[in-house]
Amino acid sequence: MKTSYNEEDIIETTDSSKLEKIEIELLLQGLYKWCGYDFRSYAYNSIRRRIQHRVEAEKLSSITGLLEKILHDPACLRRLIADFSINVTEMFRDPLFFLDFREKVIPMLRTYPSIRIWHAGCSTGEEVYSMAILLLEEGLYEKTKIYATDINADVLKVAKSGRYSLENMKKYTKNYLHAGGNNAFSDYYTVIDNGVKFHSHLSKNVVFAQHNLVTDQSFNEFHVILCRNVLIYFNKELQKRVHNLFYESLAMFGILGLGDKETIYYTDKDDYYEEISTKQKLYKKVK
Ligand SMILES: C[S@@+](CC[C@H](N)C(=O)[O-])C[C@H]1O[C@@H](n2cnc3c(N)ncnc32)[C@H](O)[C@@H]1O
Repeated sequence: MKTSYNEEDIIETTDSSKLEKIEIELLLQGLYKWCGYDFRSYAYNSIRRRIQHRVEAEKLSSITGLLEKILHDPACLRRLIADFSINVTEMFRDPLFFLDFREKVIPMLRTYPSIRIWHAGCSTGEEVYSMAILLLEEGLYEKTKIYATDINADVLKVAKSGRYSLENMKKYTKNYLHAGGNNAFSDYYTVIDNGVKFHSHLSKNVVFAQHNLVTDQSFNEFHVILCRNVLIYFNKELQKRVHNLFYESLAMFGILGLGDKETIYYTDKDDYYEEISTKQKLYKKVK
């Protein structure tokens, strides 16, 4: 086994990562020009891993080969876009976030005559149904309109259906109880064909729509924006742009909720928010 590298090895390594970078740039540029999906400002290492996975899965020998394939094979194009949209989610994900929302945000929302909430990057909708349940229990659901958006049309179909796998319900029930829920969680769904369907009254005030945070504008003014575990996939520049979009879209004293590993700090907007929960990523627009 080799224990040290000579100069040629180093030049080769540098050249191959430079070449890989060029091929990735060309692929993302081609994808953008061909179908308008703009992944050019996503976090490089994460996008690189997904591209490499797709090259292998398609049994191709290079990223350039993948570029050719996505331009000529619509099914391969769809598979690559699906690879880029990481849809992992769960109900009452990070239960203490929802507990803090219940204890610190709900009292403020109570004072409003009507409430508009935007879930940006809602994936298959588990976060949206969690919020609907919380609002229902707090007596605020009837005066709330929820806008649930994602770049990916397929996950939105699942979100609209409100159908999830039965085996997740044990974990979701636990999350719900940790998030301050005090009813029987099973009251909110019906078991159908080895799966569950959440009751349709939970989605009657929800609009599910496709929206791309990279290329689309704001579409309303909101009292709450939750965008959790989405910005983590964007590079710093894109995170800044999206934070501007959220700032412009929030009403004064509106609430921004981020994911566990995300923060408002180190963006241009940190002076414009006050932290309302020290542990959970909940911020109030104050300027
Ligand atoms: C990991 S999921 C997070 C789901 C949920 N917010 C949560 O925290 O459980 C990330 C979601 O962001 C969506 N997404 C990625 N890029 C996006 C973009 N440019 N615009 C809107 N949604 C995007 C993905 O399709 C995916 O459904």
